[in-house]
Amino acid sequence: MSRTAVVTGAARGIGLAVARALLESGWEVAGCDVLEADLEKAAADFGGKFTPWVLDVTREEDVNKTAESILERHGEIFGLVNNAGITRDGLLMRMSLDDWNRVISVNLTGAFLMCRAFSRGMLRRREGSIVNVSSVVALLGAAGQANYVSSKAGLIGLTRALAREFAGRNIRVNSVAPGFIETDMTKDLPDNVKEDYAVRVPMNRMGRPEDVADAVRFLLEDESSYITGVVLSVDGGLAT
Ligand SMILES: NC(=O)c1ccc[n+]([C@@H]2O[C@H](COP(=O)([O-])OP(=O)(O)OC[C@H]3O[C@@H](n4cnc5c(N)ncnc54)[C@H](O)[C@@H]3O)[C@@H](O)[C@H]2O)c1
Repeated sequence: MSRTAVVTGAARGIGLAVARALLESGWEVAGCDVLEADLEKAAADFGGKFTPWVLDVTREEDVNKTAESILERHGEIFGLVNNAGITRDGLLMRMSLDDWNRVISVNLTGAFLMCRAFSRGMLRRREGSIVNVSSVVALLGAAGQANYVSSKAGLIGLTRALAREFAGRNIRVNSVAPGFIETDMTKDLPDNVKEDYAVRVPMNRMGRPEDVADAVRFLLEDESSYITGVVLSVDGGLAT
């Protein structure tokens, strides 16, 4: 029987690529996102092994209810990929509390709620793998992104804490730190910012969502069975 993974932010970009990579590798995928139309399109493209779940990961009750429904539909959950994320950039002096709170809430609190909702079954079965999608900026910092950088550094903390908490139960918790990846999140950046990044990447190109998806799949699958608590950079050398 195929294993099931839950992927947040699965409607587009890196999350969609993760869903595709997992499906190609024989997984079933429960894809969660706030973008209903994009989720439905993915479901139509992928077929029955992908189930779409409209979910805002910041809403505690909805997360818990959706987790119950996903468990009913798919049975046991083996993998969880916390990929949903947003930016609300701005210099500190102009950053509103709302912009701070929303980014922390989606990027970090959402991952906490999802880990809590899905780890119960993993702990009982003594089997599971969780991957948190952090960012290169958690390692390097980035001007104008105090909220985003803090949320992504927080995800690395969450990863390390849970890796230790769950290791004795054979549940691994890792993170990936993507560099500059071509998705909707980066498409509207000014050209000079994109050019600046491209020049700084030792491999001389932006990353593709598939580059990140392959790393996530590796960390979910048994090939990485003795790896936990790591931050795997997928950035063409940017953070080295
Ligand atoms: N693109 C990059 O260069 C890059 C670099 C490093 C890290 N990342 C991280 O990778 C992840 C995916 O980013 P992407 O580039 O594919 O961006 P994206 O904007 O294309 O995808 C993010 C997805 O998350 C979903 N989402 C947002 N808020 C949500 C919520 N409250 N509940 C559920 N889903 C929600 C969005 O609807 C969207 O489908 C993010 O966590 C991002 O921070 C991206």
